[in-house]
Order: sequence, then structure tokens, then C-alpha cells
Amino acid sequence: MSPRNSLEPLISAEKIEVRVAELAHRLEHDHPGGDLVVVSVLSGSVIFLADLVRKMNLPMRIDTVSVSSYAGRAVAPGELKVLKTFSEDVHGKHVLLIDDILDTGGTLSAVIGEIQAMEPASLKTCVLLRKKKERNIDVKPDYVGFEIEDLFVVGYGLDCDGMYRNLPYIAVFNLT
Ligand code: XMP
Repeated sequence: MSPRNSLEPLISAEKIEVRVAELAHRLEHDHPGGDLVVVSVLSGSVIFLADLVRKMNLPMRIDTVSVSSYAGRAVAPGELKVLKTFSEDVHGKHVLLIDDILDTGGTLSAVIGEIQAMEPASLKTCVLLRKKKERNIDVKPDYVGFEIEDLFVVGYGLDCDGMYRNLPYIAVFNLT
């Protein structure tokens, strides 16, 4: 970290653990049938995914997708490209889409479009963090871990230039 940058703790590892367990419990309750495919958006959601699915006592398959980056600018629906395609055929399956953070909504909207085109039996979305802000893209996750202010955050999978993903807590990254 540059000496001019600082990390300000926002959500502790303990709070994350409690909330992830609550989400897992609800997801388990809401997905009683089989044929669940959990799709995680790389790379930011991998730590959330790993903690969440290990608390869900359900038969499931896990798949990952990656999306072209947009370097922090607002994007219109369709502008982002899903780069890694699905290994699992989700046609007729119950899909749970996992992402780390909902910011503009461009990422989730792009992946939702790809999944819907494969005609799943159902599609639910779950994000760990949702920024409080106005969005031009209408995406409403079914499950949200925490609402946060519109700040740049790192840790627990979230990065700045590839760094800080391994922090066990979430921090506001201040460029000073
Ligand atoms: P959109 O705007 O598509 O953003 O909803 C979702 C993706 O953008 C990245 N992102 C962040 N990454 N701290 C990060 O480390 C942030 O505050 C942040 N806001 C957006 C992230 O990859 C996410 O999946």
C-alpha cells in the first residue's frame, strides 16, 4: 500500500461470518429442491462463495463466470461482456447467482442476461454488498448481505488493483 493510501475498517470479520451464516440459512430454506447451480462471478466473489456454500447443506453444482471490466465507469446494459462461459448447462436448473458487490448493476445485468437466455427453471441473485445509490440499470438482488454507502471498498475478496482480496474484513479504501 502506498503510504498515502489508507484502509478504514468497515465490516468486521465477525459480522461477515454471522451475516453469511444467516444468508446461507435463508438460501437453504428457499431452495428445498435439488438441481441447484451456484454461479459465482470471478474474482471478487470467490471468498464469499467459499464461505457461503460450505454453510449450505444442499446438493449443488458450482460454476464461475467472468465479466469484462469497465474500470469504474457507469455502463449501459449489454455493454459488459461475459468472458468465461458456463461449464454447466443451466437449462431447467435452479440457479443462484453470487456476486461480491452491486455498484452500477452492469455486471449482474450482463450475467443475468446470459443465464436467462439458457432458460433456467428459476434464477435468484445474492450479493454480499449493495451500494446505496441511484442506478440507471434496474437490478434488484433477491438476497443482500449488507447495504453500504457509495464508497470504494476492499477485502474479503474485493480488490484494488489485485491487492487486499485476502483481508478477512471489509475496509474503505481511501486515496489520500
Ligand atoms: P457493477 O458496477 O457492475 O459493479 O455493479 C460490480 C463489480 O465492480 C467491482 N466493484 C468494486 N470492486 N470495490 C471493489 O473492490 C468496490 O467498491 C467496487 N465497486 C464495484 C466488482 O468487481 C464488482 O463485481
